[in-house]
Amino acid sequence: MASKGGLEGVVVADIATSFIDGTIGKLIYSGYAIEELAENASFEEVLFLLHFTRLPKQAEYEALRSDIAKNAAIPHPVINMMKSLSASAPAMAALRSAVSMLSAFDEDAENLTDKDLALAKAVRLTGQITTICAAWMRITKGLEPIPPRQDLTLAQNFVYMMSGEEPDETASAAVDVYLVLLAEHGMNASTFAARVITATGSDMHSAVVGGIAALKGPAHGGANAEAMKMFLEIGAVENVVPWFEKYVKTGERRIMGIGHRVYKSNDPRAGILKRHAEALAESSGKRKWYDIAVKLEETARADEYFISRNLYPNVDYYSAIVLYTLDLDVDMFTPLFVMSRIAGWSAHIIGQMGGRLIRPKANYVGPCDLKWAPLAER
Ligand code: ACO
Repeated sequence: MASKGGLEGVVVADIATSFIDGTIGKLIYSGYAIEELAENASFEEVLFLLHFTRLPKQAEYEALRSDIAKNAAIPHPVINMMKSLSASAPAMAALRSAVSMLSAFDEDAENLTDKDLALAKAVRLTGQITTICAAWMRITKGLEPIPPRQDLTLAQNFVYMMSGEEPDETASAAVDVYLVLLAEHGMNASTFAARVITATGSDMHSAVVGGIAALKGPAHGGANAEAMKMFLEIGAVENVVPWFEKYVKTGERRIMGIGHRVYKSNDPRAGILKRHAEALAESSGKRKWYDIAVKLEETARADEYFISRNLYPNVDYYSAIVLYTLDLDVDMFTPLFVMSRIAGWSAHIIGQMGGRLIRPKANYVGPCDLKWAPLAER
């Protein structure tokens, strides 16, 4: 029998980083509900939690914050490589190439067994990925990248490195919540890709590059940018219903940012991001995109097709509005996802180190017993 594909329902590892109950829209990171973390935790605390399955004490938090900031600079050849790319190159392609190149400057890159060294590498990569994202935004605008500061949190450093000005607290807090919400999510496609690579005995940079490559796709992390392009195309609240009738009702297009393999009810992250999107829309005076997103959600949720298939907004739907309201280029949305998900990937990679090769089977549906014909007789 032909397989439906997608490895749906297949369990591939025991993990302590996160748990999802998609039937009731529940997500926890190492014991803590995502709602509680979004309200209280910083990204650095979440990174610690995912690696140690407990919250850091004050001194541990400060050590981690400072370690990330101190190791966040990127070597000049990597900056030069990014400058040599076309400014119209996809940001995810630039990030993927830069992370790959970083391995050549990391003296522990090829140590595949020591978990303490791996954690230090994860800390370096966490800061460096943020620096690459900010640098790429500046390079594409013809500006010189700004090196990270050692006194800031990761979210503040990102805001600082984009503008070169004292980081705005509202923007830094919004980025921090976003980073907390997207840090980890069970055996999602990019995490699985990173684990498959690690299970062959390959190195952390390769596994992270694989994670970036998988996240880039519009069925996964690329959906945040696609959702925003869709809102921009719709352009006005009164266009939502005609757009829905023209493209979605006819089956021509999917609504990007809606649907999920695991959540068959509300994605709790979407609800939290929706509240932040509304607050940001209100304070920035740019309500239009939020209103379009709400109208499209309401239109879809009133439609029998979406109701019967349990299709709800996922994390990418309202994060598109949050990131756009923060004046980020749409092309940078998925790199921001990487800035956060490196936390989950690195915890999974270290958890997978030394584990068994991941090697599933395929169902052969091709022909058998064919007779070989020489070239001239075919
Ligand atoms: N719009 C319209 N119909 C949809 C949508 C959507 N966004 N998503 C799923 N459906 C329909 C499918 O057509 C299918 O209908 P059918 O049963 O009549 O064939 C049914 O719902 C189930 O969809 P599948 O594609 O089989 O579900 P799967 O679990 O394989 O895919 C996915 C999940 C890829 C997320 C899908 O919902 C989708 O394409 N969504 C849009 C892209 C997106 O938002 N991706 C981000 C996901 S979250 C993340 O990765 C961070």
